[in-house]
Amino acid sequence: MAAADRPVTGAQPPSDERTLTVLRERAFAAMERAYAPYSNFRVGAAILSSDGSITEGCNVENAAFPSGICAERGAVASAVARGNRSFETILIATEADEPTPPCGMCRQVLEEFSPHLLVVSVTRSGREAHWTLDELLPRAFTPNSLDRR
Ligand code: THU
Repeated sequence: MAAADRPVTGAQPPSDERTLTVLRERAFAAMERAYAPYSNFRVGAAILSSDGSITEGCNVENAAFPSGICAERGAVASAVARGNRSFETILIATEADEPTPPCGMCRQVLEEFSPHLLVVSVTRSGREAHWTLDELLPRAFTPNSLDRR
Protein backbone atom coordinates (compact mmCIF):
# COMPACT_ATOMS: atom_id res chain seq x y z
CA MET A 1 0.00 0.00 0.00
CA ALA A 2 1.40 3.39 -0.96
CA ALA A 3 2.14 5.71 1.95
CA ALA A 4 -0.48 8.12 0.64
CA ASP A 5 -3.18 5.43 0.91
CA ARG A 6 -2.25 4.15 4.34
CA PRO A 7 -4.93 4.77 6.95
CA VAL A 8 -3.95 7.18 9.69
CA THR A 9 -4.04 4.85 12.66
CA GLY A 10 -5.30 6.18 15.97
CA ALA A 11 -7.03 8.94 14.05
CA GLN A 12 -10.00 9.34 16.40
CA PRO A 13 -11.34 11.80 17.39
CA PRO A 14 -11.31 13.60 14.02
CA SER A 15 -9.89 16.76 15.55
CA ASP A 16 -6.80 14.78 16.58
CA GLU A 17 -3.86 17.10 15.99
CA ARG A 18 -1.73 14.54 14.18
CA THR A 19 -4.56 13.76 11.79
CA LEU A 20 -5.13 17.46 11.15
CA THR A 21 -1.44 17.85 10.36
CA VAL A 22 -1.66 15.09 7.74
CA LEU A 23 -4.88 16.55 6.33
CA ARG A 24 -3.20 19.97 6.03
CA GLU A 25 -0.23 18.47 4.18
CA ARG A 26 -2.42 16.46 1.85
CA ALA A 27 -4.76 19.38 1.10
CA PHE A 28 -1.92 21.80 0.34
CA ALA A 29 -0.26 19.20 -1.88
CA ALA A 30 -3.55 18.78 -3.76
CA MET A 31 -3.86 22.56 -4.03
CA GLU A 32 -0.52 22.61 -5.85
CA ARG A 33 -2.05 20.27 -8.44
CA ALA A 34 -5.18 22.41 -8.93
CA TYR A 35 -6.04 23.42 -12.48
CA ALA A 36 -7.34 26.95 -12.10
CA PRO A 37 -6.06 29.01 -15.04
CA TYR A 38 -9.25 31.12 -15.22
CA SER A 39 -9.77 32.16 -11.61
CA ASN A 40 -6.20 31.69 -10.40
CA PHE A 41 -7.85 30.61 -7.15
CA ARG A 42 -6.35 27.25 -6.35
CA VAL A 43 -8.11 25.02 -3.83
CA GLY A 44 -7.09 21.70 -2.34
CA ALA A 45 -9.21 19.45 -0.14
CA ALA A 46 -8.45 16.37 1.91
CA ILE A 47 -11.34 14.35 3.29
CA LEU A 48 -10.96 11.93 6.19
CA SER A 49 -13.15 8.85 5.92
CA SER A 50 -14.45 6.95 8.93
CA ASP A 51 -11.98 4.13 8.20
CA GLY A 52 -9.08 6.58 8.61
CA SER A 53 -8.23 6.88 4.93
CA ILE A 54 -7.70 10.26 3.33
CA THR A 55 -8.67 11.28 -0.20
CA GLU A 56 -7.72 14.51 -1.93
CA GLY A 57 -9.40 16.74 -4.45
CA CYS A 58 -8.49 19.96 -6.20
CA ASN A 59 -10.45 22.38 -8.29
CA VAL A 60 -10.38 21.58 -12.00
CA GLU A 61 -11.58 24.43 -14.17
CA ASN A 62 -12.66 24.34 -17.78
CA ALA A 63 -12.79 26.69 -20.77
CA ALA A 64 -16.55 26.15 -20.62
CA PHE A 65 -16.65 27.74 -17.15
CA PRO A 66 -19.63 25.89 -15.57
CA SER A 67 -17.96 22.57 -16.39
CA GLY A 68 -15.34 23.16 -13.72
CA ILE A 69 -15.52 21.37 -10.39
CA CYS A 70 -14.59 22.40 -6.86
CA ALA A 71 -11.92 20.69 -4.80
CA GLU A 72 -14.38 19.48 -2.16
CA ARG A 73 -16.71 17.77 -4.62
CA GLY A 74 -13.72 16.25 -6.38
CA ALA A 75 -12.53 14.79 -3.08
CA VAL A 76 -15.97 13.37 -2.26
CA ALA A 77 -16.33 11.80 -5.72
CA SER A 78 -12.91 10.15 -5.46
CA ALA A 79 -13.58 8.90 -1.93
CA VAL A 80 -16.94 7.42 -2.92
CA ALA A 81 -15.27 5.72 -5.89
CA ARG A 82 -12.86 4.16 -3.39
CA GLY A 83 -15.78 2.78 -1.39
CA ASN A 84 -16.07 5.43 1.33
CA ARG A 85 -19.41 7.02 2.15
CA SER A 86 -18.90 8.18 5.70
CA PHE A 87 -16.63 11.10 6.48
CA GLU A 88 -15.27 12.66 9.66
CA THR A 89 -13.47 15.79 8.53
CA ILE A 90 -12.76 17.76 5.37
CA LEU A 91 -9.85 20.16 5.31
CA ILE A 92 -9.78 22.90 2.68
CA ALA A 93 -6.57 24.70 1.72
CA THR A 94 -6.41 27.89 -0.33
CA GLU A 95 -4.07 30.79 -0.96
CA ALA A 96 -6.61 33.30 0.33
CA ASP A 97 -5.71 35.52 3.29
CA GLU A 98 -8.75 34.35 5.25
CA PRO A 99 -10.02 30.76 5.60
CA THR A 100 -12.81 30.22 3.06
CA PRO A 101 -15.82 27.99 3.68
CA PRO A 102 -17.03 25.55 1.00
CA CYS A 103 -19.46 26.87 -1.62
CA GLY A 104 -23.15 26.07 -1.36
CA MET A 105 -23.07 23.27 -3.92
CA CYS A 106 -20.22 21.55 -2.07
CA ARG A 107 -22.05 21.91 1.24
CA GLN A 108 -25.02 20.12 -0.28
CA VAL A 109 -22.86 17.30 -1.64
CA LEU A 110 -21.13 16.85 1.72
CA GLU A 111 -24.51 16.85 3.48
CA GLU A 112 -25.59 13.75 1.55
CA PHE A 113 -23.02 11.61 3.32
CA SER A 114 -22.03 13.29 6.57
CA PRO A 115 -24.36 15.97 7.99
CA HIS A 116 -22.22 16.37 11.13
CA LEU A 117 -18.94 16.69 9.24
CA LEU A 118 -16.16 18.82 10.70
CA VAL A 119 -15.12 21.40 8.09
CA VAL A 120 -11.68 22.97 8.54
CA SER A 121 -10.32 25.69 6.30
CA VAL A 122 -6.71 26.82 6.36
CA THR A 123 -4.52 29.46 4.79
CA ARG A 124 -0.84 29.38 3.93
CA SER A 125 -0.09 31.73 6.83
CA GLY A 126 -1.64 29.26 9.26
CA ARG A 127 -5.00 30.92 9.82
CA GLU A 128 -7.62 28.30 10.43
CA ALA A 129 -11.40 28.14 10.81
CA HIS A 130 -13.47 25.22 12.07
CA TRP A 131 -17.17 24.73 11.42
CA THR A 132 -19.61 21.87 11.47
CA LEU A 133 -21.59 21.21 8.33
CA ASP A 134 -24.77 21.57 10.43
CA GLU A 135 -23.93 25.21 11.03
CA LEU A 136 -22.85 25.86 7.42
CA LEU A 137 -26.00 24.28 5.97
CA PRO A 138 -28.87 24.46 8.46
CA ARG A 139 -32.25 22.97 7.52
CA ALA A 140 -30.70 21.09 4.62
CA PHE A 141 -32.50 19.10 1.98
CA THR A 142 -31.43 15.52 2.75
CA PRO A 143 -32.22 12.00 1.52
CA ASN A 144 -34.97 11.93 4.20
CA SER A 145 -36.61 14.92 2.53
CA LEU A 146 -37.45 12.69 -0.44
CA ASP A 147 -39.51 10.42 1.83
CA ARG A 148 -41.85 13.24 2.81
CA ARG A 149 -44.06 12.92 -0.25
N1 THU B 1 -13.75 26.62 -5.47
C1 THU B 1 -13.52 25.44 -4.82
O1 THU B 1 -12.77 24.60 -5.30
N2 THU B 1 -14.16 25.24 -3.64
C2 THU B 1 -15.04 26.11 -3.07
O2 THU B 1 -15.70 25.77 -2.10
C3 THU B 1 -15.16 27.46 -3.61
C4 THU B 1 -14.63 27.66 -4.97
C5 THU B 1 -13.11 26.85 -6.76
C6 THU B 1 -14.04 26.90 -7.92
C7 THU B 1 -13.25 27.72 -8.90
O3 THU B 1 -12.36 26.86 -9.59
C8 THU B 1 -12.43 28.64 -8.02
O4 THU B 1 -12.43 28.08 -6.74
C9 THU B 1 -12.98 30.06 -7.95
O5 THU B 1 -14.31 30.07 -7.59
